[in-house]
Amino acid sequence: MVRAAGLVKKFGGFTAVDGISFEVRRGETFGMLGPNGAGKTSTLRMMSGLSPVSAGELEIDAIDATANPRSIRDVIGVVSQHDGLDPDISVRDNLTVYGFYFGLDRDIARRRADEVLDFFDLKSRGGDSVDDLSGGMRRRLTIARAFVSRPRLVILDEPTTGLDPSSRNRVWEQLAILKNSGVTVVMSTHYMEEAAILCDRLVIMDEGRILGAGTPDELIQELAGAEVGQVRPQAGQRESVKRQLAEGGHESSEIGAIFVVRGVNGARVDLSNISGARVTYRSANLEDVFLSLTGRGLRDD
Ligand SMILES: Nc1ncnc2c1ncn2[C@@H]1O[C@H](COP(=O)(O)OP(=O)(O)OP(=O)(O)O)[C@@H](O)[C@H]1O
Ligand SMILES: [Mg+2]
Repeated sequence: MVRAAGLVKKFGGFTAVDGISFEVRRGETFGMLGPNGAGKTSTLRMMSGLSPVSAGELEIDAIDATANPRSIRDVIGVVSQHDGLDPDISVRDNLTVYGFYFGLDRDIARRRADEVLDFFDLKSRGGDSVDDLSGGMRRRLTIARAFVSRPRLVILDEPTTGLDPSSRNRVWEQLAILKNSGVTVVMSTHYMEEAAILCDRLVIMDEGRILGAGTPDELIQELAGAEVGQVRPQAGQRESVKRQLAEGGHESSEIGAIFVVRGVNGARVDLSNISGARVTYRSANLEDVFLSLTGRGLRDD
């Protein structure tokens, strides 16, 4: 569905996307995971036909997106990081007007508006003003809007940023159902849990580059081991513990007062001979993968 090769986005002399290559298969949910400024939005905006490609190749559904940004806008649905809903018209009209924009007939646009309102649990709010919706409902409406035109590819830029956990769960459930309906989804996120739950495959981005790619499980196994060790030094033992970890050749990062020690080749490390610390183990996650790739945490907000 998507093929990018050496894709570049420049803003003046600044390179926001630095020659990335990836493919998105039909029907899969593909994620871009990375911290603020990684280049996720810049990449998604090029894929959405909203921002010119600076260099490289980009094909969307066999259309050359570098030459025909307008044609790709017809086959995709876009949920941008900022919602752009019209506060002067009702919730339902926000959807029908969007349908008109895609050339749907009046009746079809209305019917699609009702279908997606129903699907996204917003039916009872159809006549309300957008400003009366909660943050979670607003976000669901923005996502619903992208589906009005029955797109083959939906691009979601941070679908759940700023939502409370229960609204986030609700959006995840709906995205999981949509995924089963066969639509291809490309989404960005800086929530590793979201990436792990929703994405079939993902790329980890930082500073305009792709640092790792694969299924969540592959990335975790390969780069963090199945489990990571958490080493909490006793009072006054931090330096000693740090030295022991270094001498043992362990891959570790210090987070708060804890050293997180990654495993190798899918196995957890043996930390039984570390003295002056309490050692526990937990399942490895994508945050550990990011740490292993960059030496930094994923979230800086
Ligand atoms: N219109 C612009 N003009 C100049 N620089 C820009 C522009 N848009 C983005 N950038 C820069 O490009 C880099 C990548 O930004 P981008 O918005 O793609 O990151 P992101 O991964 O989406 O981050 P976030 O998680 O904060 O949304 C940043 O350093 C940003 O400041
Ligand atoms: Mg962004």
